[in-house]
Amino acid sequence: MPDHTYNRVEFFSGEKIPLEMHKARMVQRVHLRPVGERLYVLNSTGNNTFLLPNRDVFLDMLTDSGVNAMSEAQYAAMLLADDSYAGSETFYRLEKTVREFFGLEYFLPAHQGRACENILATAYVKPGQYMVTNYHFTTTKAHITRVGGLVYECVSDEASVTDSVNPFKGNYEMAKLAGFVDKVGVEKIAFVRIEAGTNLIGGQPVSLENMREVAGYCRSKGLRLVFDASLLADNLYFIKTREESCRNRSLSDIVLEMSGLMDVIYFSGRKLGCARGGGIALAHEADYRKLRDLVPLFEGFLTYGGMSVREMEAMNVGIQETLDIDTISQTPIFVQALGEALQAKGVPVVTPFGGLGCHVDARKFIPHVPQEQYPAGSLGSAVFLTGGIRGMERGTMSEQRNPDGSEHLSSVELLRLAVPKRVFTLSQMMFVADRLGWLYEHRDLIGGLEFEDEPETLRFFLGRLRPVGDWQERLAEAFRKDMPTGL
Ligand code: F0G
Repeated sequence: MPDHTYNRVEFFSGEKIPLEMHKARMVQRVHLRPVGERLYVLNSTGNNTFLLPNRDVFLDMLTDSGVNAMSEAQYAAMLLADDSYAGSETFYRLEKTVREFFGLEYFLPAHQGRACENILATAYVKPGQYMVTNYHFTTTKAHITRVGGLVYECVSDEASVTDSVNPFKGNYEMAKLAGFVDKVGVEKIAFVRIEAGTNLIGGQPVSLENMREVAGYCRSKGLRLVFDASLLADNLYFIKTREESCRNRSLSDIVLEMSGLMDVIYFSGRKLGCARGGGIALAHEADYRKLRDLVPLFEGFLTYGGMSVREMEAMNVGIQETLDIDTISQTPIFVQALGEALQAKGVPVVTPFGGLGCHVDARKFIPHVPQEQYPAGSLGSAVFLTGGIRGMERGTMSEQRNPDGSEHLSSVELLRLAVPKRVFTLSQMMFVADRLGWLYEHRDLIGGLEFEDEPETLRFFLGRLRPVGDWQERLAEAFRKDMPTGL
């Protein structure tokens, strides 16, 4: 694939270095514990990286949710927040921004992305109806199935090919969409959803061209089209840099065309807008009226929706900053730099590089660990052991069991190393590559995990697991041999 990276500043040497277009004016001290302590912490927190306390984590690459570095303009805006239950000026400012950003008339606030999903599932999905999507997200699926709905995925088979050159692996395969609608009938479909970028298949983007096709099809069938714009910042960057027809268009122009195709847009403001909140933008008054009544019921009054007004002010500024290419490029160019450093050490990573984070292909890394023993989860525990690095399992552990209790094996087994915006330095990314390189050379030592406490819903969040055998002790021993300080 040609290199589409948007390098506004090139190095004379020709080296590809992701130059930061910001400077750090506030920092947080982090601690690297020796391997013996890491092993102890890992086992006492159920081998689940969600359960690790931050004080024991060196590089927190769990997620970019609510942990992107905020800008000075965001912090400044927080001081202007108008704290009132009803009629807050802060809400009107945010509403105006969302309206201008997406070009849709109506806006409903909600406390985060899954709160929007709860509202959408409650309002639109009847038992036995489908949500059709390019690919599901964990919380989305959980809300749809909670109300008795079903999920059908239309992403192309190539989405699960981890070393691909397809620049838009998140795209809908139109034949799958049309075939499914013909098979079950439109009345069985609650809504069609586009997630851009996709989360669970490696932050892979959806092209504007594909969105146009899906929207055209939905219009022709009278199907409601819902857009999950949580990961829009990265997706926008990829449309701008990979989609030839968009190269000379402004980011705002691209967003407005994209959102003009949708009936409903929802987002996690923990990602889009780099604050802590969420919201739903709507094109039609009828949808607005249907969803509106659920906001005071689940979230809070219509002018705050469960959010702190300070976060709403930060989100307001953060959404506007999404239209700055130097802001939205920071995660993708760091993901690429980390990905290339890992590739140089032979570590199998998802390509093309996507947004959100660098995704390691656990099935290729440790092919000897069966999917029933959660290879991406066990790789996550091994990576923590090796470098105090906290990643997130995105594979079978993140799936729900089938109704008969059997495992629903994921189409991909990924360890996500999230790269929140403007948080890490390049030397920290090189440290990650170095430790994963060491781990790759010792991959035969890595074994699997099994549940000792498995929650029924969203088990990956709070589940506790134990290693199958004593492989973690042996891995820690090998590490100590090569790195006698244990660091
Ligand atoms: N949709 C997508 C595509 C997401 O990535 C997320 C969250 C949500 C919805 C839910 O939003 O967390 O604000 O309730 N993704 C986080 C992550 C959790 O780490 O990838 P939320």
